[in-house]
Amino acid sequence: MNIAELHNTFKETFGRSPALVVRAPGRVNILGEHVDYNDGLVLPAAIDRAVYLAGAPSGDDYVSLFAADLGQQTEYRLANLTMKIDRQGQPLPGWARYPAGVAWALAEAGYQTCGIQAIYTSDIPIGAGLSSSAAVEVGFATLWQALGGWQASKLKLAQISQRAENAYVGVSCGLMDQFASACGVAGHALCFDTRSLEWEPAPLPEGIALVIADSGVRRSLTHSGYNDRRAACEQAVEILRQYLPNIRALRDVQVTEFAALSVYLPEIPRKRAEHVVKEIHRVQSALNAMRRQDKRALGAIMYSGHNSLRYLYEVSTPELDQLVEISRDLPGCIGARLTGAGFGGCTINLVESDQAQAFIDGLRAEYRPPDGGPAQVYLCHASAGASLL
Ligand code: GLA
Repeated sequence: MNIAELHNTFKETFGRSPALVVRAPGRVNILGEHVDYNDGLVLPAAIDRAVYLAGAPSGDDYVSLFAADLGQQTEYRLANLTMKIDRQGQPLPGWARYPAGVAWALAEAGYQTCGIQAIYTSDIPIGAGLSSSAAVEVGFATLWQALGGWQASKLKLAQISQRAENAYVGVSCGLMDQFASACGVAGHALCFDTRSLEWEPAPLPEGIALVIADSGVRRSLTHSGYNDRRAACEQAVEILRQYLPNIRALRDVQVTEFAALSVYLPEIPRKRAEHVVKEIHRVQSALNAMRRQDKRALGAIMYSGHNSLRYLYEVSTPELDQLVEISRDLPGCIGARLTGAGFGGCTINLVESDQAQAFIDGLRAEYRPPDGGPAQVYLCHASAGASLL
């Protein structure tokens, strides 16, 4: 659905024009996986796939939502947010909990919300690890900001969106996805320190294209081992703290310290922690490689990041592994790895720009998703973060 169709559907549904339209992008993560809840550094980029949201104040306490792509509608009261019920007292459908959670988190943080009528559509594939839900959250936070007449920083909107997902939807995600959707910078990756919350745009080396390849395997964070992985990291910190009393998170453990102390960890927390400690180090190395315009080094770091997610963090799938393996022999490939939480979803491929089409054609020819349909492989561009259109 394009913007004109979104406008028209709003008019047909609510009998008037929307007051404003918001765009909030999805993201890919170039490096730094499963480190945002370990106080680490991440390197995501907002992409040119986004949620588009048309909205207007309803003038009362009701939120009326139409998820155009799902063809589903619901209505609920701001006064009943904590009960997670619709106007009829039925449980809110899963998709409506993201905007409801944002309204709840905004109110909790003391920001003014209001009843709204809203319609949204998205070209971010759902459950593909490209943060479609973070984009919905950041989109609604941006909408309520504009309608409420208050101004918060982009980072604050991201934190409120993360709070919605953690405490209302019930997924213990880190801040990376909401951060990237809110703070994206066109043409840049974002180097984000999830401990200090400082960040800066990081230019990608010249002549590099970002290619996303969808394994066709869908995942669900809540039903996956995401929360288990988090718990294993916390367990590792507890044990390592007996030897390194000043550590707060795996971020504080150096690679050499880990090598000396890993014998004290049971197998699962040891493997999970080894991934995290080395992945944080890899992000630093990748940043150095980017500054030197050293594409080879950057690519090698991505491949080793994938292996670590495969063998140590154990969040890859045979399909994602296959995509990464195929990429190695294709024209122009610099590096590839799974992106996002894993358990299905997509790979991110860094490819020489002038060979991007040959790379895409090659991957399409060689990879068959489990449903037997054509492989979804596409060029993407680092885009700006959420804003009013
Ligand atoms: C999901 C979470 C993020 C992050 C990644 C893994 O996308 O929402 O916070 O933990 O997984 O890096």
